[in-house]
Amino acid sequence: MALTPAIEMDHVWLSFEDKPALADVSCKIMHGETLILLGATGSGKSVMLKTMLALLKPDEGRIRIDGQDIAGLTEAQLHPVRRRMGIVFQEGALFDSLSVYDNVAYRLREEGIRDEDEIMSRVREVLRFVDMESALDKMPAELSGGMRRRVAIARATISRPSIMLYDSPTGGLDPVTAHTINLLILKLRDTERVSSVVVTHRLQDAFFLSNFRFSAETQSLVPPNGGPIGGRQCLTCFLVLREGAVYFFGTYKELVETGDSYLRKFLH
Ligand SMILES: Nc1ncnc2c1ncn2[C@@H]1O[C@H](COP(=O)(O)OP(=O)(O)OP(=O)(O)O)[C@@H](O)[C@H]1O
Ligand SMILES: [Mg+2]
Repeated sequence: MALTPAIEMDHVWLSFEDKPALADVSCKIMHGETLILLGATGSGKSVMLKTMLALLKPDEGRIRIDGQDIAGLTEAQLHPVRRRMGIVFQEGALFDSLSVYDNVAYRLREEGIRDEDEIMSRVREVLRFVDMESALDKMPAELSGGMRRRVAIARATISRPSIMLYDSPTGGLDPVTAHTINLLILKLRDTERVSSVVVTHRLQDAFFLSNFRFSAETQSLVPPNGGPIGGRQCLTCFLVLREGAVYFFGTYKELVETGDSYLRKFLH
């Protein structure tokens, strides 16, 4: 199990009306690792995340979640696979007519859990994690953009997923609020060993996620040279999509030291 990737895409092709949105995309994310997905608008980042959840099906190629090929699965068979995954959509996408509590509880109810005490305790737990417990009874319209993003993360983590997909989680946020979201992503990764895919346009996010660790012991950030936590090194890789194809795959160091003029555009 340890050597099975959490997510594996193997020569994936997907076209919309003959225009490829993903062109021969391959990548692997091991357990506890982070993949940072960069690319211009329309390059296929959101489509790539959606194929990982089988919300979109590839025309060719394989996608494996914890070693299981998800291509031929029925909706019912996909259920247990998706339970292990959480996604924070690009739009945030809370249900406007439901309170924070009901938004976060939604997935548990969908899974058939009816015990309100159990639901309440789980909802409080994840809202506490994102520091939003006091907003339990609020409606989404009463929240700021950053608060909504935090609630969306709480909602995505309610089933204790081992894989989290974040589509531009800091998009449109001020730097301070963006930092709190990055901190949450890092905390989930390092305390729960969640495998993460993070789409971002901000190089600061990428730098932060690849160079810092969250220490469960001290409940604080460990600086860049702090070494691995608990004896393990948590890896972060970068993938740049260009017109649906993998243009770059490598480490932060390789990315920032590149001489490639297209890649350099992402570095400021
Ligand atoms: N449901 C769909 N039907 C038709 N075309 C689609 C659909 N979803 C995405 N596309 C197309 O696929 C391409 C990739 O879109 P995608 O949303 O993945 O871009 P992105 O990299 O996430 O961009 P952004 O940074 O703006 O969010 C685009 O050309 C888009 O128009
Ligand atoms: Mg997108």
